[in-house]
Amino acid sequence: MDNKSLASSRTRARETNWQAFFAGFLRNPQEVGSVIPSSRFLEQRILDAADLTEARLVVELGPGTGGTTQAILSSLPGDAKLLTIDMSNEFIDLLNENISDSRLINHLGSAADLSRILKEYNLSAPDAVISGIPFSTMPKEVGANVVKAVREELREKGRFVAYQFRGEVATITRPFMGEPVSSTEWRNVPPMRVYCWKKAVTNSQTSN
Ligand SMILES: C[S@@+](CC[C@H](N)C(=O)[O-])C[C@H]1O[C@@H](n2cnc3c(N)ncnc32)[C@H](O)[C@@H]1O
Repeated sequence: MDNKSLASSRTRARETNWQAFFAGFLRNPQEVGSVIPSSRFLEQRILDAADLTEARLVVELGPGTGGTTQAILSSLPGDAKLLTIDMSNEFIDLLNENISDSRLINHLGSAADLSRILKEYNLSAPDAVISGIPFSTMPKEVGANVVKAVREELREKGRFVAYQFRGEVATITRPFMGEPVSSTEWRNVPPMRVYCWKKAVTNSQTSN
């Protein structure tokens, strides 16, 4: 395929994703939380925050129609794995149909069950968890359970990257993971805040 055909097939794929995403939003606005998928500028900002160059395992919470998933795969080492978790069976079906990559595992379920899902696939501590799930519209206790599971499962120095329009994710996560580094991506509809936490190293030395 020449460059022109490749570009127009990417544009068609993006348009299809926009339609599927908007249909998902109409079906379940609270759960989807956005009207259109993330822009490529936001995708790049998320990747910069997550620093996946040496990652072995990455978890994506809320892949939606898969734009962010493809961006993550494009910067993931060849022998790494990406586990996505989404509550929408339409989105999970779309990911399974549209993205053929042996590194990818798509799971239909809730991010709050992260610990059980990692065990189900026999996966160890992730190097990064990247989240687009809407913390502002979900019950507070579900949000807190998601963050507790992320904190529990991440490897030491692993990163939790969350992109959100509203600030609830930071309010919920601070008590568990401290103050985030954050920045705003204006070239997205709506402009999106990207938060990043690094899991602290626990001092395992014990006195005799
Ligand atoms: C704003 S969309 C993010 C889409 C995509 N990552 C992007 O940036 O274009 C949020 C996604 O989170 C999913 N979601 C919402 N609550 C969830 C939960 N508790 N567990 C897993 N996925 C959830 C929704 O189904 C939706 O696909």
